[in-house]
Amino acid sequence: MEKIVKTPIIFVGGKGGVGKTTISASIATKLANLKRKTLIVSTDPAHSLGDALNLKLSAKKKSITPYLDAIELDSELITNEHFKGIESALRGYANPEMFPKIKEHLELAKDSPGAQEAAILESICEIICNKDEYDHIVFDTAPTGHTIRLLSLPTIMSAWTSGLMKHQKDQEKLKDAAEVFWSKKKDSKFNPFKPSRQGRWEKAVARLEARKELFLRSSKILTNQDESSIFLVMIPQMLPLEETKRAVKSLAKYSIKCSGIFVNQIIPKEQESDFWKTQVLKQEEILNEIEHSLKNEKKFYIYLSPRDLRGVDELGKIEFIENLTDRVALT
Ligand SMILES: Nc1ncnc2c1ncn2[C@@H]1O[C@H](COP(=O)(O)OP(=O)(O)O)[C@@H](O)[C@H]1O
Ligand SMILES: [Mg+2]
Repeated sequence: MEKIVKTPIIFVGGKGGVGKTTISASIATKLANLKRKTLIVSTDPAHSLGDALNLKLSAKKKSITPYLDAIELDSELITNEHFKGIESALRGYANPEMFPKIKEHLELAKDSPGAQEAAILESICEIICNKDEYDHIVFDTAPTGHTIRLLSLPTIMSAWTSGLMKHQKDQEKLKDAAEVFWSKKKDSKFNPFKPSRQGRWEKAVARLEARKELFLRSSKILTNQDESSIFLVMIPQMLPLEETKRAVKSLAKYSIKCSGIFVNQIIPKEQESDFWKTQVLKQEEILNEIEHSLKNEKKFYIYLSPRDLRGVDELGKIEFIENLTDRVALT
């Protein structure tokens, strides 16, 4: 296990249904069994980590074994909190007459594409930046495209926050000019820059600074191979293979090296029925293709299990095989 996973942060990505949750839970269980303090985090809105661990999980950390904690991030809860934060920051310097409009706008924004991802991303970054509490943090993520976007987002978000801050600074310059104007208009009902509001304004800028810092720090951790690994999971079929090849390329674009590929649900060679014999032969062709087209990647193979892979006992026993000896010679 120490040979496979060396870093404190571990991401497990791949298409839906290939075994991400099972494998991330297995990695976390194995690390915990080695007495390494481990946290497993489910970031997939379609949570099934609780099912894999055979336990009810929630957005509150739960201790599974003395060395293993688990949490399922609740995207709705996080999004609501995230938007509450934005609302209170905006109330700090917006005209009170605008409040109903702001609220209406934020309610709509909450359902806009990407809003939940942005909120979840911030939570993930917070967990990553507080990693010292654990030896390892394993993220069971949502399907592939999503994960890669997630890993590239901190860089993009920190750039975006910088832009926002520059905008705020320009506004501050405007504020100086405006103050002269307002000081002459004593009967004005609203002055966003009068001293009591100014404190809040600075708080809002400080919030953005903190956010930018959070994204920058996370981005550094995510792109550092000594701190973060990303494993991709696939099954030996053509479409998952194509998707995995694309994922490896996309990761490289963000300077993230794939740490290994789990080829899950391998059918054992010895089969009685013609149906399964045919499946084994088909699988063999894909396995050859995997070796050929992903030859620079480390690969770990996992057999399709006849047993239900649930609960830490079963998960801890899953074998990650480096050299598949059980191969059929194709003529
Ligand atoms: N090697 C395996 N052998 C048998 N069943 C497996 C194996 N890997 C995964 N499964 C089962 O397949 C289903 C999907 O796996 P899961 O880990 O939830 O996939 P994902 O998280 O990628 O959607 C689950 O019911 C799981 O128990
Ligand atoms: Mg899953």
